[in-house]
Amino acid sequence: MAVQTSPPAAAAGSQKAPVVKRTDNWWGGTLFFFIVFSAFGAWATFRAFQNGFYETAGASQFGGAYYLSPLYSPTLRLSTKIAGFNISPALFILPFPLCFRLSCYYYRKMLYRAYGADPLGCAIAEPEPLASMRRKKYKGEKYFPLVVQNFHRYAFFAAAIFIIMLWKDTIESFFFKSGDSMHFGMGLGSIVFLTNVVLLSCYTFSCHSWRHFVGGNADCYSCSVLNQTKHGLWKKVSFINEKHGTFAMASLISVALTDVYVFLVTSGHFHDIRFF
Ligand code: FES
Repeated sequence: MAVQTSPPAAAAGSQKAPVVKRTDNWWGGTLFFFIVFSAFGAWATFRAFQNGFYETAGASQFGGAYYLSPLYSPTLRLSTKIAGFNISPALFILPFPLCFRLSCYYYRKMLYRAYGADPLGCAIAEPEPLASMRRKKYKGEKYFPLVVQNFHRYAFFAAAIFIIMLWKDTIESFFFKSGDSMHFGMGLGSIVFLTNVVLLSCYTFSCHSWRHFVGGNADCYSCSVLNQTKHGLWKKVSFINEKHGTFAMASLISVALTDVYVFLVTSGHFHDIRFF
C-alpha cells in the first residue's frame, strides 16, 4: 500500500490531524462491497416477500429435480396470515443468517466503510463534521447498540445448523424423481448447489468465533493431548481464516446466484440442464 503523509500537525504548527493521502486504489474494495451488498439486499428482500418460485420438489415439469432455494431452507410448511396476507416462510428463516452476517467481523468492517464512511478505508480520515460528532458519542462496543454484536459467537452455532440443512438440500439436488422411484443424477442445478454449500461452509468455518472456540482457552498448547489437538485444529481453521473476507463475498454472491437459478427454473424461464 502506497501511503504519503503530510508533516505531523505539531511540526506544521497546526492543531489539525495529519492528512494521509493514499495513492493506491483504496476505494475499490469499498465500492465493490457497496454494489454487491446493496444488490444482494434488494434481491433477497424481493424474494423473501415473493413467497413463490423457490422449490421444484421433484415435480415432473422440472424433470423430477429437488431444488430448494437457500433463502427458503429449511422447508417450513406454514400458513401464517396477517391481515389476510400469507406470510412468507423466508421471513422466519432469514433473520438467523442475517444476524450471523451482520455481526461478522468482516461485514462490520465493510458496512462501516461502505454505508457509514466510518472510516472509508485504512488511513483515510473520516469526513467532517461526521468525525467530530461521532467522537463525542462513541462509547465503544461495550455499550448499546454495538454491544449486541457480541452475539456473533452464538449466531455462529445457528449458522452451523443451517450449513447442515443446506448440505442436506445439496445431496437431494443429486437425486431425481422418475415415476415413483428416485435415481442418482446430476443437473446444472446440482453443481450450483454444491458450489454454494462449499463456499458457505468455508465462510462459516473460517469464522473468528469458531477459530477461538476450537483453539482458545488454552494457555499451553503442548501441555496435554487435548491441547495439542486444539492446536492442530486451530492451525487448520487459521489457514482458511486468512481468506475469510474472500469467502464472505463469494458465498454472498453464490447464495444469490443459487436463488436466481431456482427462480429461473421454477418460473419456466430456464430448463435445468441434465448431465446424467
Ligand atoms: Fe465473520 Fe464470524 S467473523 S463469520
